[in-house]
Amino acid sequence: NTKAFIFDLDGVIVDTAKYHYLAWQKIANELHIEFTHEHNELLKGVSRVRSLDIILELGKVTASQEDKDRWLVQKNEDYLTYLVDMDESEILPGVFPILKFLKENKQPIALGSASKNARPILEKTGLLPYFDAVVDGNDVTNAKPDPEVFLMAAKLLNISPENSIVFEDSVAGVQAANIANMISVGIGDATTLHEAKYIFKDFTEIETSFIANLIK
Ligand code: G6P
Ligand code: MG
Repeated sequence: NTKAFIFDLDGVIVDTAKYHYLAWQKIANELHIEFTHEHNELLKGVSRVRSLDIILELGKVTASQEDKDRWLVQKNEDYLTYLVDMDESEILPGVFPILKFLKENKQPIALGSASKNARPILEKTGLLPYFDAVVDGNDVTNAKPDPEVFLMAAKLLNISPENSIVFEDSVAGVQAANIANMISVGIGDATTLHEAKYIFKDFTEIETSFIANLIK
């Protein structure tokens, strides 16, 4: 039996949240907005544009579109400097064995990410060849929890939503998978991700028998 396995990127395959945090923090500092790790949680799975709006709302700062555009460019340029040295050592524990198991069992794999930097990250970590389809922030118009990104991924793999499994670390992403009628697997905190059908702390907790059962 064939299922579609769709992975979110940030927080699922690689821990980029720390780099997003550093880059946003610089902007927040410049604007004298307090931006903590807890605040950073609010930005998981959220698009770049929306992330800036959330930070500005935190500081009750109103800004012109021109300023916003400048900060968005500045944030991404800074973020990209953290990616320069990225390699396979940044793949989160347990992810690679699962991808290998899926490939060995001839299961189609897709990426479903809000990031516009997804492809270079997959290239740098050496994971791009494992993906039969990549759908990212350059391809979609509606952000998670809208299911567009996952529906597009399943379509590219030629698999129905009901036969698709989504791995997500963000609440919005789990909701998007559920709205798409897909099987949601939350990766992270069980309380935060309680809407997911299955929840694991990280990929090291996912046994190949779990995947094998999904394929059956
Ligand atoms: C993911 C991350 C977010 C990030 C968004 C856009 O959803 O979880 O923190 O803001 O992608 O990423 P980008 O690389 O396009 O700025
Ligand atoms: Mg994520």
